[in-house]
Amino acid sequence: MKKRKDSGLDLPTTSRESTKKAEKKRSLEVPEAKRVVIHDIGYPFRLRGDPKPSGLEIDNEQLFADYAREQWAGSIVKKGMYLFDRYVMPDFAFQVIEIDPPESIITRDTEIILQSQSRESNIQGPKVEFDDIIGHEPIKQKCRVILKYLSNPMAFGEWAPRAVLFHGSPGTGKTLMARALAHEANAGILTTKASDLIGTHVGDGGRRISALFEDARKIAPSILFIDELDAIGLARSFQSIRGDVSEVVTALLAELDRTDEGSGVIVIGATNAPHLIDTAIRSRFDSSFEFPLPNAEERECILELYARKLPIPLVCDTHYLARLTDGFSGRDLRDRVLKEALHNAIATGASKITLDDILKTIESVRTRKSPEYTI
Ligand SMILES: Nc1ncnc2c1ncn2[C@@H]1O[C@H](COP(=O)(O)OP(=O)(O)OP(=O)(O)O)[C@@H](O)[C@H]1O
Ligand SMILES: [Mg+2]
Repeated sequence: MKKRKDSGLDLPTTSRESTKKAEKKRSLEVPEAKRVVIHDIGYPFRLRGDPKPSGLEIDNEQLFADYAREQWAGSIVKKGMYLFDRYVMPDFAFQVIEIDPPESIITRDTEIILQSQSRESNIQGPKVEFDDIIGHEPIKQKCRVILKYLSNPMAFGEWAPRAVLFHGSPGTGKTLMARALAHEANAGILTTKASDLIGTHVGDGGRRISALFEDARKIAPSILFIDELDAIGLARSFQSIRGDVSEVVTALLAELDRTDEGSGVIVIGATNAPHLIDTAIRSRFDSSFEFPLPNAEERECILELYARKLPIPLVCDTHYLARLTDGFSGRDLRDRVLKEALHNAIATGASKITLDDILKTIESVRTRKSPEYTI
């Protein structure tokens, strides 16, 4: 097989001969690497729509280290450089995250350690704190207990929280709460959406679930947040319609059973259709919290919170608006009422948002609001 030069090597390109000579001369000058720590990165690219590889599984670390040494012996490496696999998964990349001495050559005596890349803090969006979430006090309290557990798991013993279910209407702040928890926790948090877990091939989904729980256990104490749980924890009666999810349900059940108090992993599932979730899965969640729609007072606070962030001022009484928006979620208020009124104001060149603008958007949201769940 053609030998690939690993990237980051600073080689002269005048001629093949001089390159070889320079490489030989240089390798005589650089010290031997005692220890190299690498991360798995993945492939440089994939076809759009192809599933993302969900991380490496090393069954025998010693064997992996021998294999890695064998193929990379002679490579001069430094921190940050990429090394590519040539045999088992050609072009799969690893990145050097630690090396001793800083620039050195891999030999057959180099210790090579793979630190599996955990998908820690893959929480997206701006930083959110509990104070940015209006209402939901009992849930915030539960989250504070989770934070306490994560900072000192031993104190809880067999009374550790294990699995918590967030459910409620769309746009009521379930994902927002998980983001706040992630930002406030010093522990690792892995988040995933059901759509990322359902694979394209038979067996993919189950494998992804197991890999995810294994990653969470590795970085324990940790939180594993599974958003849109209904799509993967689908009740058995619906599995005939969505055959692809039955293996995922089975894998999820098995993994939930393994997350006992000793594992240090807390699973948080979120859904807006708890009735669609397999009862066996639901029963594994030891507490379940409903996210209600905001009441008038909370709607007023939500409107005020986001009105402060608008680029042009909102000149109307939020107390009055709150009373007009019964049944609206936090998302309705922010993304539909305020955002649309802002866009309309910008479109007409106005320098402020008036009560009239808002009343129009409230009306259009009200007429667009259709049944949230149909199957
Ligand atoms: N209680 C709240 N306080 C402040 N903002 C809120 C609140 N509820 C919702 N929001 C706003 O609405 C947006 C959408 O909320 P979020 O994504 O958390 O809803 P969700 O409950 O996860 O909905 P879904 O079930 O559709 O996934 C948030 O990003 C936030 O801007
Ligand atoms: Mg959500």
